[in-house]
Amino acid sequence: MDYRTALITGASSGMGRSVARSLARGGTEVVLCARRVPELEALAAEIRSAGGRARVVEMDVADTERTVASIRAVDAEIGGLDLVMANAGIGRAIDAKRLRWERISQLCLINFNGAIATLCAVLPEMVKRRRGHLVGVSSVGALAPFPGVGAYGASKAGLSMFLASIRLDLRGTGVAVTCIHPGFVRTEMTAHLKKPMPLALESDEAADLILAKLGSHPAEINFPVSMTAVARAVAALPAPLRDAALLRFPTPDEDVDDGA
Ligand SMILES: NC(=O)c1ccc[n+]([C@@H]2O[C@H](COP(=O)([O-])OP(=O)(O)OC[C@H]3O[C@@H](n4cnc5c(N)ncnc54)[C@H](OP(=O)(O)O)[C@@H]3O)[C@@H](O)[C@H]2O)c1
Repeated sequence: MDYRTALITGASSGMGRSVARSLARGGTEVVLCARRVPELEALAAEIRSAGGRARVVEMDVADTERTVASIRAVDAEIGGLDLVMANAGIGRAIDAKRLRWERISQLCLINFNGAIATLCAVLPEMVKRRRGHLVGVSSVGALAPFPGVGAYGASKAGLSMFLASIRLDLRGTGVAVTCIHPGFVRTEMTAHLKKPMPLALESDEAADLILAKLGSHPAEINFPVSMTAVARAVAALPAPLRDAALLRFPTPDEDVDDGA
């Protein structure tokens, strides 16, 4: 993998941590970003003790101005980021009958605004350098209107659309764009789910799938392919058939015990 440097948001756990660890093992200097600094420091120490290079940046992507400023600063210090991966995200399932703005505002801010801010932070610098790869971690939930996850699905669909569109603008600039649509992955985000997670992967397995393909700069990385294909096929049905199909999907466990 020819990334000299890479910045990954949400590197304190799950897929972000797995991807960062693997990149560092392959010789990439990784910039680990998230809110939980002790977890980032522990990963950085592990990477350094294995002979790799890692920096830690405390970052709350919901604070988009500081996120952009931090990424620009690290880009200048490190001599140019080759890969920026907007991976930070939170999940939340709420039946729309219990939907309140207070319950989803952080999700919208983190998953959409935070991801877009991350991806835009050094985009012009990458274009000037004619080198860079912008990657966003979306979800299979972006591909069809599954019940119970309207805000999550919308935040991820917005991210997917953003990436698909800027990929066209950036053709010929040397800046690549990739959108990742994972199905279920066993991470902190899904640890509380009691219902079965079909075809679920471990986060290291997901990272291996991502890194096996990332170097070829694909428009999308979808896994499991059967799940993303079914989601797309269902979404393409006429609305009455689509609704009937999606209402047969199990609704996810709800997270509404937040006092909002
Ligand atoms: N697990 C799945 O089944 C699945 C499926 C499809 C897509 N995804 C997506 O994959 C991405 C990674 O999630 P994961 O499954 O690996 O879950 P995870 O282990 O919970 O990791 C989420 C990461 O995002 C970070 N994060 C959350 N809010 C943040 C904020 N405001 N600012 C900065 N960092 C923040 C967390 O770090 P801190 O708490 O330390 O800030 C953590 O490192 C997410 O975008 C998620 O939506 C997951």
